[in-house]
Amino acid sequence: MRLQLRVLLAILASCSWISGSLAFKPVVILHGILSGAESMSFLVREIEEIHPGTIVYNCDKFSGWYSLENAWRQVDQVRDYLNEVGKLHPEGIIVLGYSQGGLLARAAIQSLSDHNVKTFISLSSPQAGQYGTSFLHLIFPDLAAKTAFELFYSRVGQHTSVGGYWNDPQRQELYLKYSEFLPLINNEKVTSNSTSFKMGMVRLNRLVMIGGPNDDVITPWQSSHFSYYDENMDVIPFNKRKIFTTDSIGIKTLQEAGKLTIVIKPHVHHLAWHTRRDVIHQVIMPYLD
Ligand SMILES: *[C@@H]1O[C@H](CO)[C@@H](O)[C@H](O)[C@H]1NC(C)=O
Repeated sequence: MRLQLRVLLAILASCSWISGSLAFKPVVILHGILSGAESMSFLVREIEEIHPGTIVYNCDKFSGWYSLENAWRQVDQVRDYLNEVGKLHPEGIIVLGYSQGGLLARAAIQSLSDHNVKTFISLSSPQAGQYGTSFLHLIFPDLAAKTAFELFYSRVGQHTSVGGYWNDPQRQELYLKYSEFLPLINNEKVTSNSTSFKMGMVRLNRLVMIGGPNDDVITPWQSSHFSYYDENMDVIPFNKRKIFTTDSIGIKTLQEAGKLTIVIKPHVHHLAWHTRRDVIHQVIMPYLD
């Protein structure tokens, strides 16, 4: 009897050990601009199929036209959402943000001093800014990158999310003067929040940045890895830029701790990162453990 009991206990213990170690962390997904949670449903299904039992939160805030709302207004709500989901899962969560959603998610993570986001996956997001208008032609058919600064670097332009991360390489003075979003979360403009923005970042166990040369929307595509144009329109690799060399938001700290992963995948269009099965399996699934 005693032996049986002990065996039973051992089996129970090993079961909980198995479920404890094999359980996949919950995943929070943030959609991109001019779309909503439904645009991410293929990715959700893939995750649930390949990693059965994963709890996936497909955030449906700021869908469609609302995705153009001011970046900080969106970040404030995403931050509260991540905070709530995080409290439900003290063991830690994974956050995946696609396109603009990856930029908003990063800002939300940076704004949370005590988050329990273990892994943040930035899926083709303009982390260093955007200097291309093709994705905006639905709303602004005639908008050209060269003159878009006139629209975005203004008080009205800053009411739009895009205005917050529009980064014109040849109008850096105006960018720093008018942009209320990207220069702040990238600590290019120092504020009372700069230290906590860095702390929020270095709390991550893993930062995965995914992008590729055939994206066709993120411009330059290297912005997905914090690389960006200089004033001569040459793309400077992220590790040669101030944001990295001065470790202003902790990317260098993460890299030195082996917590930074950069994924470059060619032949993937912007709209395929979250909708092509082979891409999902190759560049996303390995980081959802
Ligand atoms: C710092 O963050 C708080 C909370 O998000 C915000 O209300 C405040 O305006 C920020 N301060 C600056 C200088 O950006």
